[in-house]
Amino acid sequence: MHLCFIRFLVFQFLFIFAAVDAVLDVSWWSSVAQLSTSNIHLPSSTKSICRELQGLSPGQANFCELFEDHMPAVGNGAKKAIEECEYQFKNQRWNCSTPPEAGVIGPIHKLGTKEAAFTYAILSAGVTHEIGRRCRLGMLKSCGCSDTSKIPKDVAPDGVKDDWQWGGCGDNVDYGIKFSKNFIDVREKETMKRSETHGRSLMNRWNNEVGRKILKRNTKAKCKCHGVSGSCNMKTCWMQLPTIRQVGEILEQKYRTARRIQINARGNMQFESQPDKRNPMKKKRAVTELVFLEDSPDYCRQDRQHGTVGTKDRICTKDPGAPNSCDILCCGRGYNSYTEDVVYKCKCKFQWCCEVVCQQCRNQTEIHICK
Ligand SMILES: *[C@@H]1O[C@H](CO)[C@@H](O)[C@H](O)[C@H]1NC(C)=O
Ligand SMILES: *[C@@H]1O[C@H](CO)[C@@H](O)[C@H](O)[C@H]1NC(C)=O
Repeated sequence: MHLCFIRFLVFQFLFIFAAVDAVLDVSWWSSVAQLSTSNIHLPSSTKSICRELQGLSPGQANFCELFEDHMPAVGNGAKKAIEECEYQFKNQRWNCSTPPEAGVIGPIHKLGTKEAAFTYAILSAGVTHEIGRRCRLGMLKSCGCSDTSKIPKDVAPDGVKDDWQWGGCGDNVDYGIKFSKNFIDVREKETMKRSETHGRSLMNRWNNEVGRKILKRNTKAKCKCHGVSGSCNMKTCWMQLPTIRQVGEILEQKYRTARRIQINARGNMQFESQPDKRNPMKKKRAVTELVFLEDSPDYCRQDRQHGTVGTKDRICTKDPGAPNSCDILCCGRGYNSYTEDVVYKCKCKFQWCCEVVCQQCRNQTEIHICK
């Protein structure tokens, strides 16, 4: 029964995908994220699956064939990234969702907005993360633990003063970055300079890179002590990736301070207000700023053309100060309220011996839903 259901989903998915593709520029991520489901039976010839994923660009399809064993990692990385996006934006008007007809998961971004910037960065970081992690776990043919020979001897990890050595098997962030640059960015390089989408391609590439840079900068040395009876006269150190949550938090901050760019007459990207050239600190910071080209819609209404779901039926709170306050979330349309009975365990008592016995209590909670 399960298998049937999954087959049905896959069929549904492929059908929806094929049908909408021509009209809407459905995010290819939707299709790649699908690959994370290990239950999906991949045909023995990878040629067909790589060609069947219609969102992939020709260059990506080639990579897909060459690095077949990386594809579940790409899919899983994308899935985790989308979950993180949903978590970070759960209280905002834009909650990282797309209209259901647009594909199963994965945001579409027709417009080059801040939200698109965040999405590209987190997806590229998510894929890089998953590849780097799977290298360490020995799950991929063409990579292994992080290369510690490249790390200068004098760079001791934080707080390590004594004898220490690189020894542990670390996350391979460098390999992840290399793969992500090739696989994710290749589609952006396939557009022609001077074409309509050239500016958008530059924006996407920049934001992809921001995701990877944030990941790399937060990959830190971790150490473990070895020694006789708990002493720490030797340490083994290795590189460890940050959690996706940490990356999500940083990128959410970057989203708030995202910078507008424009494409100049020569077809190059520039900040609308140049970073201060005399201040190298600021200039250095600019390489990890998210960039966008266009103003965001208000995300209030469902708009298929722009791929927004609107805020109808969103749960909100009456507290006017909260980020998900009904005033903001419902866009002035008002909300419906109803009370919900919540049953929970209460007045738990320990009984001799050895049980905990609880009563059932009811709590009435008021729920507000945007009109
Ligand atoms: C985002 O909002 C839409 C519209 O109300 C809703 O259908 C969807 O489930 C929400 N997504 C998440 C991840 O909460
Ligand atoms: C019961 O409801 C009140 C307010 O309606 C809330 O503050 C409290 O946390 C709820 N208790 C439980 C256990 O859900």
